[in-house]
Amino acid sequence: MKKTLLITGGAGFIGSHVVRLFVNKYPDYKIVNLDALTYAGNLENLKDIEHAPNYEFVRADITEPATMNAVFEKYRPDGVIHLAAESHVDRSIADPNAFIQTNVMGTANLLNAARYLWKDNYEGKRFYHVSTDEVYGSLGETGFFLETTPYDPQSPYSASKAASDHLVRAYGNTYHLPFVLTNCSNNYGPNHFPEKLIPLFINNIRNNKPLPVYGDGKYTRDWLYVVDHARAIDMVFHNGKNGETYNIGGFNEWQNIELVKLLCKKMDEKLHREEGTSAHLITYIKDRPGHDRRYAIDANKIKNELGWEPSVTFEEGLDKTIDWYLANEEWLNHVTSGDYQKYYQEQYS
Ligand code: NAD
Ligand code: TYD
Repeated sequence: MKKTLLITGGAGFIGSHVVRLFVNKYPDYKIVNLDALTYAGNLENLKDIEHAPNYEFVRADITEPATMNAVFEKYRPDGVIHLAAESHVDRSIADPNAFIQTNVMGTANLLNAARYLWKDNYEGKRFYHVSTDEVYGSLGETGFFLETTPYDPQSPYSASKAASDHLVRAYGNTYHLPFVLTNCSNNYGPNHFPEKLIPLFINNIRNNKPLPVYGDGKYTRDWLYVVDHARAIDMVFHNGKNGETYNIGGFNEWQNIELVKLLCKKMDEKLHREEGTSAHLITYIKDRPGHDRRYAIDANKIKNELGWEPSVTFEEGLDKTIDWYLANEEWLNHVTSGDYQKYYQEQYS
């Protein structure tokens, strides 16, 4: 094998698409997927590649420093692509500590393990930290997040991701640890856990349940198809410059309520329901505390420097996503049994 890559959080939504892309595209890389399998981690996401000769799964928790050191010692990775995190804003409002532990302390443990393993020779080594546009805070009606936009995180989730970003850059500055960092906008696509807007609403429409829109529904997000995020990660990992940050976005802003109406229309068509059936499920509910009004990414740096841009339009991506959920009801049924019901009750009752 030419290289060993450690991908953390590879059983989650984005991580599983990154693992699949790397396992299939780079048969001469050994891909080690490290994941604790929290509620968000699911090995069913990787059934198609689980027996690939260049793939190995390790169940481990990044909050345990000794375990991380042992994993690095055993596999001696040349590169790390770090996605493992607590990722849902509403959960961070209900219980911030898990976010501080995993996102801040977990990232520090990985940085320490990488630094220790690579200390004699950084040649050919790279620590890739996957982050979010939410670290930049909230925009008004106009403007975009640039790589130079000052950090202004507003939720426990975004604050914990911001802290992890700062740690990565500090290790780069202080110990010369070779790193790259990306801040991406909202992803959507297959294998997305149905707590986030798009998969939650697809699942609720499927079950004729209310669609809980927070506040006035005029909050804006920039949506990117998850496979395009994985493609961007591949490009930045291989061609990004050491120490650089790249913003990744879909050039695709939607007000929540407009997105929800489009989703309802498409679901009616695909489920052969009368037009307007799903829209009747829209229910405005109490707003999320501290809700960021608008996120919008300027993704021109990665476009101009690395030649990346989204390959899928929003219409195509949404069709692919809905079709995947309708064809994978068993997956949805598995992830929405057990603890999910308790979460749903507490969040939306
Ligand atoms: P996810 O919640 O679907 O998956 C997270 C994965 O990390 C799960 O497989 C989980 O088991 C694992 N994990 C959690 N805690 C762990 C721990 N302590 N030790 C080991 N593994 C652990 O998240 P996602 O949406 O796929 O996001 C992946 C990364 O991308 C995160 O770092 C997130 O901040 C970032 N990001 C997400 C989005 C988005 O729209 N989802 C956008 C930009 C950036
Ligand atoms: P989400 O998918 O949780 O992503 P994020 O908060 O990280 O951007 O939410 C996307 C938008 O949808 C956000 O403005 C909050 C809103 N939203 C609702 O209106 N209702 C819901 O039930 C959820 C989960 C989100």
